[in-house]
Amino acid sequence: MAIERSIGVLGGTGPAGSAFALRYADLGHRVTIGSRDSKRAQTLVASLTATHSQLEGRLVGADNASAASADIVVVATPWEGTEDVIDSVVEYLRGKIVVTMVNALYKRQKTLSSLILPRGSVAEHLSSMLPSSKVVGAFHHAPAKELGNISEPLDLDVLVCSDDGAACDEVVELANEIPGTRGICAGSLSSAQAIEAMTAVLINVNVKYKTRSSLKLSGLKV
Ligand SMILES: NC(=O)c1ccc[n+]([C@@H]2O[C@H](COP(=O)([O-])OP(=O)(O)OC[C@H]3O[C@@H](n4cnc5c(N)ncnc54)[C@H](OP(=O)(O)O)[C@@H]3O)[C@@H](O)[C@H]2O)c1
Repeated sequence: MAIERSIGVLGGTGPAGSAFALRYADLGHRVTIGSRDSKRAQTLVASLTATHSQLEGRLVGADNASAASADIVVVATPWEGTEDVIDSVVEYLRGKIVVTMVNALYKRQKTLSSLILPRGSVAEHLSSMLPSSKVVGAFHHAPAKELGNISEPLDLDVLVCSDDGAACDEVVELANEIPGTRGICAGSLSSAQAIEAMTAVLINVNVKYKTRSSLKLSGLKV
């Protein structure tokens, strides 16, 4: 394993956050699943560690503030709740890498589309809310079921973007720790709009073909 890190997941009780937490606890990191209700997170962790006893002590359930106290903080909330959650923990996030996997999507006539946000993307919106943090967009396309299936590799490219080059590289390394997964630095936060919007495209493909597709880039030797 690479360096052991402390990772906190805001909204970690949902499918995406809990899958992320499970995967990174299994990779040897200390992960706090955060929730608006610490009991809900503790109950979830009890059920996860009942199935995966090797993760006991590495996976903790707590409130979002405790999760935000970790070294690296992952935002895994629905877009509708993201501002409120960030507002509630903003003082813990200064100077830290804040990874957003949040997609702002809406459904119209069975088709998902990406919301056009005033700042372009969720990641850029969070960056404006957190000027002292290093906001990184990543893991938007990681299907929760496969991400949380820790007995299997995850066949996926994780597109990572940030205005902070070192933070981008760090999250690329984090993505590379998952067997089968390749982290790719995809530029500054101005790439986030296209990356987030691509999630809607993938979900529409999934609905049409009854599958869980993901993204892999060709022609890239890294
Ligand atoms: N599901 C996937 O496969 C997947 C993959 C990649 C990225 N994503 C993205 O990851 C994010 C989370 O996805 P998800 O499917 O896990 O979402 P979710 O289940 O709807 O929400 C995750 C957690 O966020 C908290 N939450 C829900 N509504 C909230 C609100 N109004 N205000 C504050 N907190 C709220 C809840 O935790 P508490 O009630 O415990 O606080 C909930 O368990 C989304 O933005 C999604 O686009 C999802």
